[in-house]
Amino acid sequence: MAKLNLVVLVGGKSPEHNISLISGYSVVNALNKEKYNILVVGIDKTGQWWLQDTEHFSDHRDDPQRIVLSKSDTRVVLSPYRNKPYLMQHNGNTKIAKVDFVFPVLHGANGEDGVMQGVFRANNVAFAGVDLMASAIGMDKDVSKRLWRDAGIPIADFVVADLSNRKQLRYRSIVKKLGSPLFVKPANAGSSVGVHKVSDKEAFTTAIEDAFKFDKKVLIEEAIQGIEVECAVLGNENPQASVVGAIIPTETFYSYEAKYISSTGAKLMIPADIPDEVSELIRQTAIRAFKAIGGEGLSRVDFFLRPNNSIVLNEINTLPGFTSISMYPKLWEASGVNYTDLLDSIVQLGLKRYRQLQKLMI
Ligand SMILES: Nc1ncnc2c1ncn2[C@@H]1O[C@H](COP(=O)(O)OP(=O)(O)O)[C@@H](O)[C@H]1O
Ligand SMILES: [Mg+2]
Repeated sequence: MAKLNLVVLVGGKSPEHNISLISGYSVVNALNKEKYNILVVGIDKTGQWWLQDTEHFSDHRDDPQRIVLSKSDTRVVLSPYRNKPYLMQHNGNTKIAKVDFVFPVLHGANGEDGVMQGVFRANNVAFAGVDLMASAIGMDKDVSKRLWRDAGIPIADFVVADLSNRKQLRYRSIVKKLGSPLFVKPANAGSSVGVHKVSDKEAFTTAIEDAFKFDKKVLIEEAIQGIEVECAVLGNENPQASVVGAIIPTETFYSYEAKYISSTGAKLMIPADIPDEVSELIRQTAIRAFKAIGGEGLSRVDFFLRPNNSIVLNEINTLPGFTSISMYPKLWEASGVNYTDLLDSIVQLGLKRYRQLQKLMI
């Protein structure tokens, strides 16, 4: 079989740009070179696309705080040419390569939220992971939670602050409704950016202000006591769930520092040391949550598990971390799917969805 030209997109106009670069190396390393011709395109922090060296596309690659996209001379665009998607040089009509598939390894805004998926759809190119609508819903913690509530899945109670009611927020009445401490977070963000745990009025006000730096909509949530457990989902119409993993944080919550910077910040326990029936409930609920938002391809679904073994769905990540130590690939590895085969499945699922779409009369 002819090799597919596969573009791995890394970086992105997102607060999670750096993490994406690290995930990108793991994906490029693990992709099967016998099946795919790999091209790496780096999206810089202003949103411009650059053709990168496949082996070396960042400087300071081992330091999540200092890692930066390497300089490239070739600015590119994705563009249809005679009805086929191509990577073209930005200035002029020079074709670089026909694109058979795009693998966006982009986390957070402008990557995981439907924006890029819209670009892929507009260019009629097959791509990995969740489609436009489910990406946008999965990114929005308010909309996704309302769909899960509708599906009867337990979630933390929350109120939404937006530009219309921001000035009228009353700390006391919110505490009356949701208790204390409270979690304040932007509706659309990730990697714990802008997430705060607060237990007094002053901290609440500061947290609201900070969260509004990242989004026009902010969630205020009841705090759930329990451990954090995560489950990986893979598939289109008949998604499968992995074993369940647990995060054992050493700080007050699973903050940005704990996720990526502090080496002692958190430990993963895979599989989680929980009763089989609880694990089964989490797996089934993860699949239901994935389907409820219209998921296809892959997602990581995150829960709280209370001491009494009841579960609360926290969030879905439609493009979860893909570094070699990330939960998503590790959960599949523990379920008997190695990283290279996992990526192959994700590509196959994306191609299948693409072929189904091609048949529709649109
Ligand atoms: N309602 C909550 N109760 C308890 N802990 C929470 C709650 N919401 C968030 N957290 C903590 O904050 C972390 C980040 O919040 P999360 O909603 O998962 O946002 P992100 O998309 O940035 O990961 C969680 O992993 C958890 O440690
Ligand atoms: Mg999270």
